[in-house]
Amino acid sequence: MDADPLTLLRTRTSAKWRSYPDDVLPMFVAETDFPLAEPIARALHAAIDRSDTGYIAPENGLGAAFSAFAEARWGWRVDPQQVASTTDVSVGIVETFRRAINPGDRVVITPPVYPPFFDLVPEGGGVIVEVPMLHPAGYGDARGDSGWALDLDGIERAFVAGARALLLCNPHNPLGHPQTVEDLIAVADLAAQYDVTVISDEVHAPLTHHDGTFIPFLSVSAEAAEHGVAVTSASKAWNLAGLKCAVMVTASERMRQLVAGMPEEVTTRTSQLGLVANIAAFTEGVPWLDDELAALESNRALLAELLDAQLPGARYEQPRASYLAWLDFRGLGWGDDPAQVALGRAKVALINGLDFGSPGRGFARLNFGCSPDVLAEAVSRLAAASTA
Ligand SMILES: Cc1ncc(COP(=O)(O)O)c(C=O)c1O
Repeated sequence: MDADPLTLLRTRTSAKWRSYPDDVLPMFVAETDFPLAEPIARALHAAIDRSDTGYIAPENGLGAAFSAFAEARWGWRVDPQQVASTTDVSVGIVETFRRAINPGDRVVITPPVYPPFFDLVPEGGGVIVEVPMLHPAGYGDARGDSGWALDLDGIERAFVAGARALLLCNPHNPLGHPQTVEDLIAVADLAAQYDVTVISDEVHAPLTHHDGTFIPFLSVSAEAAEHGVAVTSASKAWNLAGLKCAVMVTASERMRQLVAGMPEEVTTRTSQLGLVANIAAFTEGVPWLDDELAALESNRALLAELLDAQLPGARYEQPRASYLAWLDFRGLGWGDDPAQVALGRAKVALINGLDFGSPGRGFARLNFGCSPDVLAEAVSRLAAASTA
């Protein structure tokens, strides 16, 4: 699959293309540069042609579409009746907190992690407790499997101290790490032991690479089903963030009731066009997704080669999911905010690692959901900046 050419991309009006001047290569926000999947474009055009732009219908086929996709892709059996739609993944997370915790309750997150988590927890009434991810090998030294793991002892300590919820990121952004089945089972056991709610953000799951394994949290045990809510969408894998549609998935009567108890508006605010696009993605978008994954897996390896050749001081482990690279610039002496150096000296827009929490000091996140040419240009600009 080829990404759109830069001249065409610069006519897009989304955040990626309207936040910096044209001499900056935008590698920051999680949008991709591929043309929209044809079945999705067709479904959207057809909806526009019939002026089908009202509110979503109560019975709309999204649950069945997601359920069929989840079973075919991951062998995960989801009851369509346990799938509720909402505006986006972030809203699903916040609304789940509103039902699952009391204002002021502590909520565990595992940095470095998707920066808005630091806002979604307080928006949902919680107070953040950080339990950083572990990387025993030292970042850049893991060979074979991803070296990342959840700090289960740290999570248990937080639960013992009274935390009422855990916001998981699976696969993890910015690390591209699908959480392991062992870690997920252990988390589910802890959740049951301490009666904690686990929200599993699984928006990057369809983008799991061929050498990674995505395990849906709710599938790992009865405890997970009893204590977990998964929130996901086609928005990352098929680049549909602007269309506003996500699903909240449950696997027990207890958690189904929790979601069913949300105000009706949480669901009715789902975008009709987002729903049309998500259904098209889950039912007809799989060949396109597999092509995209081939392009992404090629780019993640290209990035490793380019860095080895031109910027060996930057450390990087190839992710097992998604299109985000977590780059360790500490060896280059670029300070606490290497993204600022990259923007100023190289005109490459990255996201500062510190936005992902304190373990991100000296790191930055690069989005490689682009053409190999753009990726090569970005690395050569960064390499030139490192010798400037
Ligand atoms: C882990 C994670 N969760 C949620 C989102 C945002 O999803 P949405 O736009 O559906 O709120 C992103 C976007 O990049 C993400 O990486």
